[in-house]
Amino acid sequence: MVTLKDFMAVMDAFAPTNLAEDWDNCGLLVGDETKEIKKILIALEPSMLVIDDAIQNRVDLIVTHHPLMLNKINRITTKSLEGQKIMKLIKNDISLYAAHTNLDKAPLGLNQYLAEFIGLKNIEVLSPIPNEFNKVAGLGRIGDLELGLSLEELGRKIKSVLKLENLQFVGEKNKKVKKVALVTGSGLSELNKAIVEGADVFITGDLKYHNALYAKEMGIAILDATHFGSENIVITLLGNVLKQQFEHIEILLDTKSNNPIKNL
Ligand code: FE2
Repeated sequence: MVTLKDFMAVMDAFAPTNLAEDWDNCGLLVGDETKEIKKILIALEPSMLVIDDAIQNRVDLIVTHHPLMLNKINRITTKSLEGQKIMKLIKNDISLYAAHTNLDKAPLGLNQYLAEFIGLKNIEVLSPIPNEFNKVAGLGRIGDLELGLSLEELGRKIKSVLKLENLQFVGEKNKKVKKVALVTGSGLSELNKAIVEGADVFITGDLKYHNALYAKEMGIAILDATHFGSENIVITLLGNVLKQQFEHIEILLDTKSNNPIKNL
């Protein structure tokens, strides 16, 4: 029998919760550690769609990248969307576990996975966590493209492998790019780090006008893989890890969610 506690031990070995940012809310958010786990649903978001899907499929545990209760809450009522979600989870005896910034920074976590997914070589951590013994963890990755591509060629490749509907970019389409920095989700806080490290292009999501203008003036290209597009691959990453560790647990991967931001 696998309990929630056993699951948590595996997750903590893969993406230690102590790697998470102070503002984050990772780990077990709803649940009883002694509960037996037979079926898991993995998703990017603990959305109502995902929770309803978990109920329908009689799932014991939902594992997501984004957490609930990121801000302090004082009451759990149906007056708030978050309250509705928490009540629904508890009523249906479904646990919720989130691996967020700890998973971003983990040695084999989401940023490393994206770097490998798009075929970077000589991958290093963009913003290593200061630790003289272990420099492999940290936010973002930087590496080389084996073949020099133009910005447009790289953009089309990213669009295809991440199945993006749309890809906004900053820079000259014909510019040759070799050194690539990336941060999954909203990573523009690391733009200067990418510039200092000599990246030709920075891949992230949630690009804003002023960041775009700054990047253009600083001479670094940006590919906006979107927040959803750069992070939804968390499902296959965690699916692979959990399937390997728990042969007898049924693992469902969310395929119903999509980017809420649409293009005409
Ligand atoms: Fe995110």
